[in-house]
Amino acid sequence: MKSTVVKLGLATASAVFIALSVNPAGAQNAGKNKADAKAKAAAPAPLPTGGGGGAAYPQRPPAPADVRARGEALYKAECGFCHGDDARGGDMGANLIRSQIVLNDDEGERIAPVLTRGEGVEGTMMPKFSFNQNQIADLAGFLHSFRVNGYDGSRNRPETIVVGNAQAGQAFFGQRCGSCHSATGDLKGIGTRITDARTLQQRWINPSAGGRGVTTRPTTVTVTMNGQKIEGNLLRIDDFTVTLTQADGRQRTIRRDGDNPKVELKDPYAPHKELYTVYTDTNIHDVTAYLVTLK
Ligand code: HEC
Ligand code: HEC
Repeated sequence: MKSTVVKLGLATASAVFIALSVNPAGAQNAGKNKADAKAKAAAPAPLPTGGGGGAAYPQRPPAPADVRARGEALYKAECGFCHGDDARGGDMGANLIRSQIVLNDDEGERIAPVLTRGEGVEGTMMPKFSFNQNQIADLAGFLHSFRVNGYDGSRNRPETIVVGNAQAGQAFFGQRCGSCHSATGDLKGIGTRITDARTLQQRWINPSAGGRGVTTRPTTVTVTMNGQKIEGNLLRIDDFTVTLTQADGRQRTIRRDGDNPKVELKDPYAPHKELYTVYTDTNIHDVTAYLVTLK
C-alpha cells in the first residue's frame, strides 16, 4: 500500500503542477509601488499595541482599479473557497477583513509572509503559495478595498456545513481519492469515528493538522553526502542549512550549497496539499456530505 501511495502521489503532483502553471493572474503584474512595498517588507512598522477594539485604522486611498481587479481574480481562484468570496470568512478560513494582519498591512508587506512562509499557516489547512511581489500587492489591493467598519463582518457560520450532495461526493471520491483510500477499507466508519462534520471536513482536507487523538506523521529527509545517506525527521530547512532528528534522537544540522549535498524530502501529506488547488467549494461540500455517510 505504501509504495502505491507514493507513486500515485507523484502522478498527482505532476497533474497539479500543470494546473498551477496556468495561473491567469500570474501573467500580469501590478508594477505599481513595487519598490515601495519592497522597502516596507524589509522593515514593517511595529504593530499597534492593541487597545479598545474599534481602533482607528487609517482609511486608505483605494488601489487602482486594475490592481483590484487582478487581486480579485487571484483571490477568487486561490483564497475564496476558504475565506469566503467576500473575504468575510467561510467554513474553512477566518474573516480576513477583520484580521489584524490585513488591517495593519499596507501593500502586502504583512500579508506576504503569511502566504509564502514554510508550509503555509502552521496547524491549519492553509497551504503555502508561491506568489511574486506584484501578485501579493494585487491581493492586498483587493483585500483593502472592503470597508472595515461598514456592514458587520461577523457573519454567522452556517448551522451545518453538511450542505453538499453525497452522491456527487461519492463520484468525486472515486476519481480523486479512491486511488489511496477506500470507503470500505481505511475510511470505513470515519463518519462514526469523527461525528462533528466540521472536524471531519478539516481532517480530510488537511490530515497533517492533526487534532485530538490524532498522531501525525513527520516529513522525513534524506541527505546524501560523500556517498553516505543521513536520514531523519525534518526539523528545519532553508537555502543554507537543513536540520533533522536522527532515529537515535540526535539532531544534526548540515550546510547546503545549491544542490550539494543532495536533499530529498518526503512529506506523507503531500498528496493532500496538492489537492488544495484541485477541488472547488462544491467538491469540498460534496465530499464531506459523502464521508459523513460512511458509518
Ligand atoms: C485551504 C483553505 C485556505 C486557503 C486556500 C487559504 N487560506 Fe488563508 N487561512 C486559512 C486558515 C485555516 C487560516 C488560519 C486562521 C483561521 O483559522 O481561519 C488562514 C489564515 C490566513 C491569514 C492570517 C489571518 C490572521 O489574522 O491570522 C491570512 C492573511 C490569509 N489566510 C490569507 C489568505 C489568502 C490571501 C489566501 C489566497 C491566496 C488564502 N489565505 C488561502 C485557510 C485558507
Ligand atoms: C495519493 C494518495 C492520496 C490521495 C489521492 C488522497 N489521500 Fe487522503 N490521505 C493520504 C495519506 C498518505 C494520509 C495520511 C494517512 C496517515 O496519516 O496514516 C491521508 C489521510 C486522509 C484522511 C484522514 C484519515 C483518518 O483516518 O483520519 C482522510 C479522511 C482522507 N485522507 C481523505 C481523503 C479524501 C476525501 C481524498 C480525496 C479528495 C483523499 N484523501 C485523497 C493519501 C491520499
